[in-house]
Amino acid sequence: MREESKINLGKNIAILGAQWGDEGKGKIVDMLTPDLDAVVRFQGGHNAGHTLVVDGKKTVLRLIPSGILHPHVQCYLGNGVVLSPDAFLSEVAELEQQGIDVRHRLKLSHALHLLLPYHIALDQARELKLGHAAIGTTKRGIGPAYEDKAARRGIRLADLADLDGLQQRLKTVLDYHNFVLTQYHQTSAIDVDELFDVLLAQREALLPLMTDVTADLQVLASQGKHILFEGAQGSFLDVDHGTYPYVTSSNTTAGGIACGSGFGPLMMDTVMGIMKAYTTRVGSGPFPTELTDDIGATIAKRGHEFGSVTGRPRRCGWFDAVAMKRAMFLNSMNALCLTKLDVLDPFTEIGICTAYQLDGKTLDYLPHSTAELARVQPVYEFMPGWGSDTFGITRFDALPSAARQFIERLETLLGLTIDMISTGPGREHTIVRQSTR
Ligand code: IMP
Repeated sequence: MREESKINLGKNIAILGAQWGDEGKGKIVDMLTPDLDAVVRFQGGHNAGHTLVVDGKKTVLRLIPSGILHPHVQCYLGNGVVLSPDAFLSEVAELEQQGIDVRHRLKLSHALHLLLPYHIALDQARELKLGHAAIGTTKRGIGPAYEDKAARRGIRLADLADLDGLQQRLKTVLDYHNFVLTQYHQTSAIDVDELFDVLLAQREALLPLMTDVTADLQVLASQGKHILFEGAQGSFLDVDHGTYPYVTSSNTTAGGIACGSGFGPLMMDTVMGIMKAYTTRVGSGPFPTELTDDIGATIAKRGHEFGSVTGRPRRCGWFDAVAMKRAMFLNSMNALCLTKLDVLDPFTEIGICTAYQLDGKTLDYLPHSTAELARVQPVYEFMPGWGSDTFGITRFDALPSAARQFIERLETLLGLTIDMISTGPGREHTIVRQSTR
């Protein structure tokens, strides 16, 4: 990273999605990685997706933090992650084929929950049964894995060390889930002995990576190391604070860091919210600023808005400052990064949602019910477009004046300076404005 593009965010940094996911967190994490000692994932599973290009070869990482590409960085998956051994080991194999040392630089929490084939079968069967009311999950088994965790019948990584106990637990959990799979969903049962044999082989690769992540982070923190917590999905997909039930099943917001890694909340120096210059969402659920017209289609096309895990088209719409203010409070965001500014280049005017109308009332906050959020009408402020190319611009003062005005208007509405602005997919396509904090 060039010296002048460095940004000082302190020692312990969280990078979180401020909208419905896919905000471009991966690029920002990549940019910050040269100055880091460790990267930690604390929630989610292989529903997340981050595409990397290493020596011209494309790799989609779902579980392993992209920090793995930087030999000096230690990577961790905290207790809040749900780990599919199949997905994880195939990612490890793919990276190792490219000559990347994964096994010495990646540690897994002893307390993380395993996401097993019955979770995937349940997720798929349920979505099918819901029909039009489906949540639009990634069908990766995320919800059922977190359900088992909360129901205290989950299997954790450390359970792989006790074979007798594991066999018994698997039998109990499959007695329960196979009944649901066969009797309620009329689909195939999962064979307990077959799964046990698979886990027996997989544990040889998994157990050597096991650690007490919290204890490791405590050591790193005491040594003054730089640690980044990489969020997956976005604030409004949070199981508690998102647009329930159209959410993922983990806490994607800042509170999830402490719960999902054991790193206490007062240790954090910076919580940076990543937000697109517009909004997208994939899957079902309310989306007040959604544009189903040509403008939405143009944003989708220019922004390549297709899911990196499922390939599904993303829904697109204007920037929602009402939702964003909520996300900032929810997460204690004290730094902001605006991504994909260049996608808005061709528009003659650009919308910013500053309030909602609901039943004749103007709201400057999110209604508490998802059903009400689905009924709100956005109130827009339209800013003049800039109609010229901002792709790859690296200095704020080199942006067209209308683009600067758009950003400054967002800063006024949000009450915080925007420290970083992304103008293209490459690391170099970034404007860094040192924070005034
Ligand atoms: P699940 O996480 O597979 O259970 O899916 C629940 C909801 O979260 C669905 O609307 C998904 O589209 C959405 N979702 C899950 N992971 C991501 C992601 O990485 N980016 C954006 N949306 C996601």
